[in-house]
Amino acid sequence: MDPLDIAFAEVRRFLATLDTRPAASRGTPQEMRAPLPARLPDTGLPADAVVRAIAAAAEPGLTGNATGRFFAWVKGGALPASLATDIMCSGWDQNACLASTSPAGAVLEEVAGAFLLEALRLPPDASYAFVTGCQMAHTTALAAARHAVLARAGWDVEAKGLIGAPAIRVLANAHHHGSVTRALRLLGLGTDCIVPLRGPEPGKVGADDLRAALAAAPCAPTIVILNAGDLNIGACDDFDVLCPIAHAAGAWVHVDGAFGLWANASPRFAPLVAGVDQADSWATDGHKWLNTPYDCGMAITRDPQAHSAAMRHTAAYLTTDGPVRDPMAFTPEWSRRARALPALAAMMELGRDGIAALVERCCAHAAAIYDGIAVLPGATGLARPMLNQGLVRFENRRGEVISDAVIAAINASGEAFVSGGLWDGARVMRISVCGWNTTARDVERTIAATAAALEALR
Ligand SMILES: Cc1ncc(COP(=O)(O)O)c(C=O)c1O
Repeated sequence: MDPLDIAFAEVRRFLATLDTRPAASRGTPQEMRAPLPARLPDTGLPADAVVRAIAAAAEPGLTGNATGRFFAWVKGGALPASLATDIMCSGWDQNACLASTSPAGAVLEEVAGAFLLEALRLPPDASYAFVTGCQMAHTTALAAARHAVLARAGWDVEAKGLIGAPAIRVLANAHHHGSVTRALRLLGLGTDCIVPLRGPEPGKVGADDLRAALAAAPCAPTIVILNAGDLNIGACDDFDVLCPIAHAAGAWVHVDGAFGLWANASPRFAPLVAGVDQADSWATDGHKWLNTPYDCGMAITRDPQAHSAAMRHTAAYLTTDGPVRDPMAFTPEWSRRARALPALAAMMELGRDGIAALVERCCAHAAAIYDGIAVLPGATGLARPMLNQGLVRFENRRGEVISDAVIAAINASGEAFVSGGLWDGARVMRISVCGWNTTARDVERTIAATAAALEALR
């Protein structure tokens, strides 16, 4: 049988079972290894046998983040057009690094980039890069920031590196994601340069705190990192207030908007991120709230010159500078799949209204799950979703925190998949809704599974 037919049949079968299969994987490592050869085969196997073996090996270990009942971490499923486009991308096997290596990859990426800026209501002349995820989006955007703040200090970081450079300080929302920290490590800035900023409201930087931090070293090259949606409570910084303060001090403002930047696409939730368009760079994901398949992140900057100065590389054998943008002038990767195309498909499939409706629907579902769970005996609601993220804590009758045990029991039930975290020193359950196909019925199933788990454990 044609391996492609087998692959399509497997994907169709998997998608058809989403509603009934456990949201969490239940397979053991042994079960996943069993269908595969114990060691590298001396001679190659027929392609159809390989595809069947890999499908059998993966099946018991597949998590259901494409189901409507997956509320762990921050994950969306894959919209139908986006998934189908992703599959075509693999089939076409384009190297979308240059316009000359893949005209289709480069031209369609330009269209995707323009749509992205429109959807997120960011400056239409901003530069963009489609990268593997928000981790690399931070790395790319912060490389542009590093270039810009050091260029202002008269230092060419691409030529001279960081040894001997004026020290950059990074004033970051204390609730920054670990991917920000890793990006700073990858960029050679290290983590000691981070000054954590807090404020009177949970998860948000206070204006006075930012002012005081800026005033502590008024001449230092400075990057300010703010949040559009922190991963615990979805807190968004007051960009309208903070961006002008940072800019008055000559700082570059970068926004982690891995999922929360999409609030700007919804007229109802855009006020939460008012002024976010005033920042200098943004990092977001397609594979979270836009519901593209992995891997799709986006780095966007207000300063295309700084962005491409940080990333551009030329070589005699590369054909560049044609009428169409070369993607790799803005990305850290060289060879790369045409990963903008599934994002283009998702944006076309949803349209402006559909993106807003997706955001609003997920927020409503998150609030409904929270409201249904917070009233259960033994549950304490800690943060009702202002966006799509909420927190609850569980206690037994003796007042001991049992959040992790409840999470494990919900996941073991197969009815939903949730994950935990730490909030105010106690273990909590996080609720994160990003999936395009979550329904009111999925919400009911999740509340019922939580009630059953809690009842059994109290
Ligand atoms: C707020 C935030 N920033 C960054 C990231 C990292 O994104 P990615 O996994 O796409 O690199 C995440 C992932 O959950 C996140 O929630």
